[in-house]
Amino acid sequence: MKRKVTKAIFPVAGLGTRFLPATKSVPKEIMTLVDRPLIQYAIDEARAAGIEEFIFVTSRGKSALEDYFDAAPELEAAVRRKNNPELLDVLKSTTMGSGAIAYIRQHKPLGLGHAVWCARRLIADEPFAVILPDDVIAGEKSCLQQMVEAYQETGGSMVAAMEVPYDKASAYGILDVASEDGAKVKVKAMVEKPKAEEAPSNLAVIGRYILTPDVMENLNRMKSGAGGEIQLTDAIADEIAAGRNVYGYRFRGQRFDCGSKAGFLQATVAFGLARPDLCDEFSGYLEELMSLKNVAQ
Ligand code: UTP
Repeated sequence: MKRKVTKAIFPVAGLGTRFLPATKSVPKEIMTLVDRPLIQYAIDEARAAGIEEFIFVTSRGKSALEDYFDAAPELEAAVRRKNNPELLDVLKSTTMGSGAIAYIRQHKPLGLGHAVWCARRLIADEPFAVILPDDVIAGEKSCLQQMVEAYQETGGSMVAAMEVPYDKASAYGILDVASEDGAKVKVKAMVEKPKAEEAPSNLAVIGRYILTPDVMENLNRMKSGAGGEIQLTDAIADEIAAGRNVYGYRFRGQRFDCGSKAGFLQATVAFGLARPDLCDEFSGYLEELMSLKNVAQ
């Protein structure tokens, strides 16, 4: 039996430049799909996977994130007065118990690997999860939960993997596959942002990871990688070089890249249509829009 994964790191210290000017004052992770901020989807996924300690790596200008998880006695009292138990439950699901959540500062955006390394003292010698909240994954079972279950069989480090078109490979870390066993893929190398013709496969790394403490050790070396940033992918690839096992996991679910404008809009439409309280009105509106577009053409 492998050691249980109970800690997750949420690196949210990036500048979010693709969403300027919104991200000048609103953290990207607070932007909402319908009525829930991106970070809430990430937290719900982690909770479903058995995570008990939530570690946020933040930066200047992210205080809205800290407030979001705080108790909100005035709002609660107002919702109670309205006698709306469902809304009260929604509100309560955003509050974290004392001690369950920790905030660490990354003083400079030196890369995802560096952000993860900032949480090293809180991780100590345990395996841990990393969740990038701008990758939102919809599915029947939480993506991280699927990975935690697979990790119980494999051990080692594990990254979420998804097939992408070869001409999009240069936007991702790409896996070089040694062997496959159902959804589990043994990895022999990882290449960060390869050109299409140099990609060893079309299996891309998506923002969910289960990592061993050895990866944190590798990050200690502060090796600068692609784009001059300290890359998490490099620290995981070092595991393979050291002869330790690294796996990809082909998760079941639909991933939305909410770090990009097009991905965020697609997620907004998909989550809007998936909501029973909005579906009829919203789908009617979309049909109307499409018929107007067809007439115009
Ligand atoms: P991105 O590459 O999406 O960068 O980071 P970004 O700054 O968030 O957004 P853009 O590209 O400027 O629009 C992927 C994840 O890594 C975190 C981000 O917060 C995001 O969750 N990150 C990145 C850090 O926490 N620190 C860093 O130094 C870099």
